[in-house]
Amino acid sequence: MNYKERRNKLAESFSEKDLLFFPGNTFSPKNYRDNYYRFRQDSTFLYYTGMDLPDLSLIVDGASGKSYLFGNEVTVSDIVWTGWQPSLKDLAQKIAIEEVHELSTLDDFLQRTKNSGRTIHYLPPYRGETQISLAHCLTMPVADVSENASSLLVDAVLAQREIKSEDEIVEMEKALTITQEMHLEMLYNAKSGATEAQVLAGAIKIAEENQVALAYPGIVTVNGEILHNHYHGNVLKEGDLLLCDVGAESPGYYAADITRTYPVSLTLGTQQRAIYQLVLDMLNYSTAELRPGIPYRDVHIGSTRVMIEGLKEMGLMHGDTEEALKEGAGALFFPHGLGHMIGLDVHDMENLGEDRVGYGSGYERGEQFGIRSLRFGKKLLEGHVLTVEPGIYFIEALINQWGSENRYLDFINYSEVRKYIGLGGVRLEDNYLITENGSKLLGPPIPIQIDEIEFLKSTTVDFGGATTPTDPS
Ligand code: GLY
Ligand code: MN
Ligand code: MN
Repeated sequence: MNYKERRNKLAESFSEKDLLFFPGNTFSPKNYRDNYYRFRQDSTFLYYTGMDLPDLSLIVDGASGKSYLFGNEVTVSDIVWTGWQPSLKDLAQKIAIEEVHELSTLDDFLQRTKNSGRTIHYLPPYRGETQISLAHCLTMPVADVSENASSLLVDAVLAQREIKSEDEIVEMEKALTITQEMHLEMLYNAKSGATEAQVLAGAIKIAEENQVALAYPGIVTVNGEILHNHYHGNVLKEGDLLLCDVGAESPGYYAADITRTYPVSLTLGTQQRAIYQLVLDMLNYSTAELRPGIPYRDVHIGSTRVMIEGLKEMGLMHGDTEEALKEGAGALFFPHGLGHMIGLDVHDMENLGEDRVGYGSGYERGEQFGIRSLRFGKKLLEGHVLTVEPGIYFIEALINQWGSENRYLDFINYSEVRKYIGLGGVRLEDNYLITENGSKLLGPPIPIQIDEIEFLKSTTVDFGGATTPTDPS
């Protein structure tokens, strides 16, 4: 990655009166100072430096792009605990940072900048410790820090980071290659008698062996209808569907975000097969639509249309498809958005404002239940990378509530829908790059067709026949 070019390009949006301040992340203590969570550098700091060390700050001069790194050189007493470390000066030189200064001089540097009438731009902080340290070094009340963050800097960083370069795509492919291995392992381990935790552990082991972290807390659940389910205590049984939403970070900290839904038995049951195929149809429709110029909101709506038509054929919905779409009836089954941007963050740059990433420039976020959860609605551009993640869920509490209120009786056959309660949920999620004329699936293919998943399952039967084909419906 050419970090200097990135910093120079950023500076083009500013002038000699501007200074751009990027505090890096510190260690975050778990229960006392020296027992901290795995360190994760701030993504924007990584974008402009690639440096994954704690307690650093970057300053970029708005006139010239000249960069200053503030940090502490390692001492011999540090080396006693951590072993040999490269010097900050050497690291800074590799990425063409012009000046390196002791961290203790940062406050003074910022104060002089302020006194000379220049504007210090910073991004809204998302960690309490960064907010407090910004308040301290910019001499303002903690409560004022977020609202004084620079809108100009948010816009400039967003515009730069949202278009992925070839180097970044290479990193994302690395994350997806590890993620493919994780998903194959989960497919093989999704057997009757295993726990959800054991299946997730198989994926985590692969991440650890590759010396990377998961990009987000994994979801491995037989209750796929609970959208953010992090309980992993259930024992898998014949006839269950196991929803696995798990992705790795690359060595350079880019995210993968992949969901598959695997049968625990060797084959899908009748209801499961119909719902799975319909979600696959939604995915195929959506990915065929991806191209520069199309608003992602339209792809979400089109995907919902495919679902409504399919559910009508199955007898779960009826009535006029366009009316059902307009009224939002499909959200009973598909209550979340079709996808989001992905990059250094799994929901890329949402720390800069979810609507600023996904809407803006003439695109308003919808208010209706369902589409209001679409995190990205604006026009696609070449270089965007997005997830495409349709799903169909049978959420008993929601079905009961809407049914008891007689909501959408023109579109929903509640008595038929109730027959599917217990199926859980099916989601299928892949990561796509928008290209000049269309799109490209990133990463190696991860089994998704029903026949390939059933074939792979049939090759993993334990001798002694722990798993036998059943039709759970
Ligand atoms: N894994 C988080 C998401 O799919 O958005
Ligand atoms: Mn996702
Ligand atoms: Mn996901």
